Amino acid sequence: MKLAVFVSGRGSNLRAIVQSNELKNKVEVAAVISDKSACGAFEIAEKYSIPCFTVSQKNKDGFSTFPEVTTALKKLNVELIVLAGFLKLIPADFVAEFRGRIINIHPALLPSFGGKGMYGINVHRAVFASSAKVSGPTVHFIDDSYDTGRIIAQRSVDISNVSNPEEIAKKVLEVEHEILPYVIGKIADGKIVTKDDRVIILE
Ligand code: GRF
Repeated sequence: MKLAVFVSGRGSNLRAIVQSNELKNKVEVAAVISDKSACGAFEIAEKYSIPCFTVSQKNKDGFSTFPEVTTALKKLNVELIVLAGFLKLIPADFVAEFRGRIINIHPALLPSFGGKGMYGINVHRAVFASSAKVSGPTVHFIDDSYDTGRIIAQRSVDISNVSNPEEIAKKVLEVEHEILPYVIGKIADGKIVTKDDRVIILE
């Protein structure tokens, strides 16, 4: 199965995907797309000779538009889109083109601590301020809004003893690097189904 990974920054989830033993014979990252022309994720992509694209909703020099990216991904036979730290809202037309085949990783337990502006350290600050005792990543399907698509998988992380939001970020990120390749592998195996509006992962 061919994937495209959308990123905006460091790319540690991208690295977890390309280095995953579990995914080695199942998936190929065929493209990395970013809204930034320089980011850590592009350096990782280059190291693995993965084609990179920059995308913008506005007509910016050197950037592709979403329709151009759609065409390129279709040409590459990309079957799954993975949003791994992509900070821009995906336009509705793009979602429609890949409906049901776009997943996102969010660094908190949705439906809490999601929505517009809830990204990166902002999420962990809100979790810390709430005095919540558990947090953890959520992998979900994408619909036309922020963080509202059906939840595929979540893992909880004990944060009862943390002293700052950065500690939560670190603990959650470690688990992100496990859960995202796990879900991608299950999708590649055809083991993720929707029944009565719930997403179920088959053994
Ligand atoms: C991760 O915490 C992810 O959950 C969030 O953005 C961060 C991206 O980190 N959506 P990285 O670029 O994969 O290192």
